[in-house]
Amino acid sequence: MTLLQAASTSVGSKILIAFTGLALGIFLLGHLAGNLLFLAGPDAFNHYSHNLVSNPLVYVAELGLIAVFLLHIAKTIAGVLANRAARPERYAAKRWARSKNPKSRKSIASTTMILTGTFTLLFVVTHLMTFKFGTYYETSEGIRDIYRLQVQVFSHPGYVAFYLVAMTVIFFHLWHGLSSAAQSLGIDHPTWTPRILVLGRVLTAAIAGGFFVLPIATFFVSRGVR
Ligand code: HEM
Repeated sequence: MTLLQAASTSVGSKILIAFTGLALGIFLLGHLAGNLLFLAGPDAFNHYSHNLVSNPLVYVAELGLIAVFLLHIAKTIAGVLANRAARPERYAAKRWARSKNPKSRKSIASTTMILTGTFTLLFVVTHLMTFKFGTYYETSEGIRDIYRLQVQVFSHPGYVAFYLVAMTVIFFHLWHGLSSAAQSLGIDHPTWTPRILVLGRVLTAAIAGGFFVLPIATFFVSRGVR
């Protein structure tokens, strides 16, 4: 069996969804670490962003990120469609049996994953339009003033509220995704699995918590509170 054929099997697809999901989680950790520099002030944040976007390797990283993101989504959609085609009656039965049947919890978890995942996709599109492709302000040094854009965006309470809702939804997606990735990768060790899951949950809470703080902190900066 070739690698491509293996990746197309149901088990191969689950493993790919798990690996691409973990890679996206690692991106988020890095993204949060960089964005926390906002709290260090305009100079630190703008220079960080400038160094990032002016590094030629950023194009390779961006292409990789897009490929991983698309693979994660495409494999998930293909899996959902294949499941529906294979078991149409069980789906119909689960609709009414959900609350009574403890086995259907997995179905609720996967439905939640599809909803929170779709929301995350829509969030990323609007997020890129707001920041990456948003207004290009320039500092007196001639580099992009991304700090100013972030302050302008989160000076609107509506944006702050939208980001807080989005971070909550993404938190649930990461939280459920973590256990499902561990299952797909067959991580099943009496001592290490619980430890890995705890570490993953701490990191998930840190990502969501950090991203929760940023819009609120930026709102206060926009009101002149430091
Ligand atoms: C409070 C939450 C967040 C804030 C304040 C924030 C802020 C930013 C900013 C300022 C940029 C532009 C960076 C630059 O061009 O220098 C950016 C880019 C980006 N953000 Fe976020 N972000 C947040 C959460 C997220 C989340 C949750 C995701 C994914 C689910 C995400 C995905 C991205 C991506 C993919 C880019 C483009 C990176 C690139 O092309 O290099 N962000 N974000």
